[in-house]
Order: sequence, then structure tokens, then C-alpha cells
Amino acid sequence: MEFFIDTADINEIRELAATGLVDGVTTNPSLIAKSGRQFIEVIKEIAEIISGPISAEVTSLEYGGMVAEGRKLAALADNIVVKLPLTPDGLKACKTFSDEGISTNVTLCFSAAQALLAAKAGATYVSPFIGRLDDLAQDGLTLIADIVEIYNAYPDLTTKVLVASTRSPLHIVEAAKMGADTATIPPAVLRAMFKHPLTDRGLEAFMADWEKTGQTIL
Ligand code: E4P
Repeated sequence: MEFFIDTADINEIRELAATGLVDGVTTNPSLIAKSGRQFIEVIKEIAEIISGPISAEVTSLEYGGMVAEGRKLAALADNIVVKLPLTPDGLKACKTFSDEGISTNVTLCFSAAQALLAAKAGATYVSPFIGRLDDLAQDGLTLIADIVEIYNAYPDLTTKVLVASTRSPLHIVEAAKMGADTATIPPAVLRAMFKHPLTDRGLEAFMADWEKTGQTIL
């Protein structure tokens, strides 16, 4: 499973990339606004740190504007993935980019029907937002199961399932069990994935016993 981090915070990206566990980054207009920085500058800076896919989202709502913005974003670095909303214009732009060999991430997916359309449009990734569905008392993970099942039934559909709006380590584990290709994970959730109280307690005991031996390895 690919792990992307869902942030436009350069310090977080730098710190988590150093673990060697980050395959890519996703951003969106809200995350860019939160960073308080210029969109293009942030994306360029992320591309200096991360060699894997970096999603940069268009903000135009109509086809022509999306294509123009997407081309500009794609030209920033070889690993830019143009992020497009799941609307008729967004999918039309997705088809155009797919025909041109430009990678895409179709975002704001909330149904299996939408995911099927994104795959038909040749999306590289589709992003179902599971946390936002959970917020409405709809089971986000059921949507992931449905999309994985549909895509597996049609091997010619090459779109990867990018589990988005993840809120907990359990979201990642359950999506991995379903065979989802990728998850985009907020930094706090990725850090939480490392944690287990028995790891901390076990390490503490090992270190206390080791100290009693008076030995060193180096
Ligand atoms: C995905 O690409 C989005 O940036 C993100 O996962 C949305 O998450 P949120 O629902 O926590 O804002």
C-alpha cells in the first residue's frame, strides 16, 4: 500500500519524509490556505523533498480553466498529479490529461457510481473521502470495499483507489485489508500508527535490563 501524507506543511513533510515511509503528498485548497503560503511556491518546495506523486488541485470550475491550470501545475515538476473535482467538467479534463499522459487524482468522490465514472475517464487515482462520510453516519469504509470490488471486476480499469479523508490508524488498516492501493494520511494519524503502549513498555523494560549488564555494543 502506498502512503501519502495529506498536508501542505513543509516542515511536516520534511520530517515525515525522513522516515522513508512517505511515498507521496496530497494537497488541497484548504491545506494551502492553512499553510498561509503561495500555492505554486509550496508545490515546488514539496517537489524538492518528495520524488513520488504530489497532488496539486485546480481551482477553476470549468473545463477550459481546469486544463489551463492543470497544464501549469503539471509543468512544475515531473511528479505532479493534477487534482480535479468529481464534476462533469472535472472528468472531461481528466480524460484530456489521461490522453496526454498527465497523471490525475479525481477528488471529492463520495459514491461508487462516481468512482466508476472517474475510472472511465482514465483517472490515475480516485480519492473517496471516507472521514467525511463517517461524519454523516455513512460508512466510508464500505465505499472503499465497493470501489475495490468494482475495479477488481474490470482489470482494464487501472485507476488506483486513494483512500482520503482518513481520520485514524483503523481507517488505514481496514482499507489495507480491502486491498486499497493508496491512503493519504494526515501527519498526526501517521504518527499515531507508530504507537502502541506495549512497544513503549517493552522497550523501557529491555533498556532497564540492558543497563544492568553494564555492556555496550559499540
Ligand atoms: C484528499 O486528498 C484530501 O486532501 C483530504 O484527504 C481531505 O480530508 P479532510 O476530510 O480531513 O479535509
